[in-house]
Amino acid sequence: MTLAPWFAEILALHVGAVTISGTLFAVRGIGRMAGWRRFDHAAVRYFSYANDTVLLVAAILLTMIIHEYPLVNAWLTVKVMLLAVYIVLGAIALHHGRTGRIRAWAFVGALATFAFIVSVAVTQNPWGALAWLAARTA
Ligand code: HEM
Repeated sequence: MTLAPWFAEILALHVGAVTISGTLFAVRGIGRMAGWRRFDHAAVRYFSYANDTVLLVAAILLTMIIHEYPLVNAWLTVKVMLLAVYIVLGAIALHHGRTGRIRAWAFVGALATFAFIVSVAVTQNPWGALAWLAARTA
């Protein structure tokens, strides 16, 4: 069985989950800093885990359809590595940062990492937005 005919639908699922993930993280981070306890609710956390699972499963299916893989194609290697950075910074921002200052910097770093991953995805270039900046200043 080939999944290729479903590429557009799976891509839409991936990008939809990416949009929800980024928006939810931004709202949770702001809520955490503002001290809104409601955003720490278990239901919000479980929804977030479920959505991130959809994001990752769709990502894996997409790599299988286009036959490009992390550790083989640099832009996908960078995406996976930065996904790990995003997860660690996100955990510090929402849970593990000991002071408000540490949590705030981790939050900004996580959002910047997320934006950079999107630029790597759209350009399919491991340098993402940096390649575009370099081209403009050359
Ligand atoms: C937070 C993490 C991620 C973000 C923000 C993200 C974002 C995106 C976006 C915006 C696109 C659409 C690009 C476009 O159509 O122009 C995309 C496509 C894609 N992503 Fe992700 N992604 C993430 C994680 C991953 C991971 C971990 C993998 C691989 C293991 C992956 C594999 C792919 C593939 C294969 C495509 C399809 C590229 C194509 O159109 O041929 N993504 N991603």
